Amino acid sequence: MARTLTFRLITHLVSLIFVALAMRWMRSDYLSFPPMEAASMILGYISFLLIGLTLLIGPLSAWLPSRFGAACLSIRRDLGIWAGITAISHVVLVLILFSGVPRLMILQSNADNPRSGWLGLFFQNYESFYGWPMPRLSLIGIANYLGLISILYVTSLLFTSSDGAKKWLGGSAWKRLHLANPFVFILVVLHGLIYIQSVKGEPHTLSDILLFAFAVWIVRVMTFWRTVRHRRR
Ligand code: HEM
Repeated sequence: MARTLTFRLITHLVSLIFVALAMRWMRSDYLSFPPMEAASMILGYISFLLIGLTLLIGPLSAWLPSRFGAACLSIRRDLGIWAGITAISHVVLVLILFSGVPRLMILQSNADNPRSGWLGLFFQNYESFYGWPMPRLSLIGIANYLGLISILYVTSLLFTSSDGAKKWLGGSAWKRLHLANPFVFILVVLHGLIYIQSVKGEPHTLSDILLFAFAVWIVRVMTFWRTVRHRRR
């Protein structure tokens, strides 16, 4: 028990140092952005990397001797917690960035202006008090909805990552929820790609997102076929 606790503490400490170093290291690429916007983008990117890493640990454990299985599961759980913490920080900063307008102005603002309050991320048609707000279905609106679904999933994964939550939900419901991780990764890839392609343009390029996503996919496919081969033998 004490050994497990120490191991988890070390994983959290290493994750914290990784997030801090990554933020510091990436900061120089974002000097053209205001600090809060830069922090938001960096945290979104780190969360994307961490979600991808959690998807690599399962396959990695299949290549390692079985005695490493429990340690891999524990690392995956704790990295998932940090993916959740960084994703939530990204979204909180986005919401702060997009709420710089007084609340009443939100209702009168231009629907095409994304800085029309954080509700403007998801809705348009604020011209009149009586008009119904319509879902924002532009490419950026779709990216925002993809982000919204991702953050709802990531938060659910974060709050159910304890043994207590596993017991409360029941093994099969818990497993079904946590098997959604690859789906969340795909949503985040699409969300990031749309933002990088249509709004941000720098410092990340499409290949930054695509190469990592491709690497995760290749490792998972290779591990899948290796498992099939072993079973058939
Ligand atoms: C699991 C949840 C999420 C993850 C992992 C995530 C990840 C990312 C990534 C990788 C980028 C590209 C960063 C870059 O250009 O380098 C990004 C940008 C962005 N995301 Fe998300 N995102 C998530 C949820 C959301 C949600 C719910 C919103 C709110 C609608 C949102 C709004 C934005 C905005 C406005 C940008 C543009 C850059 C910025 O100001 O940060 N994201 N996100």
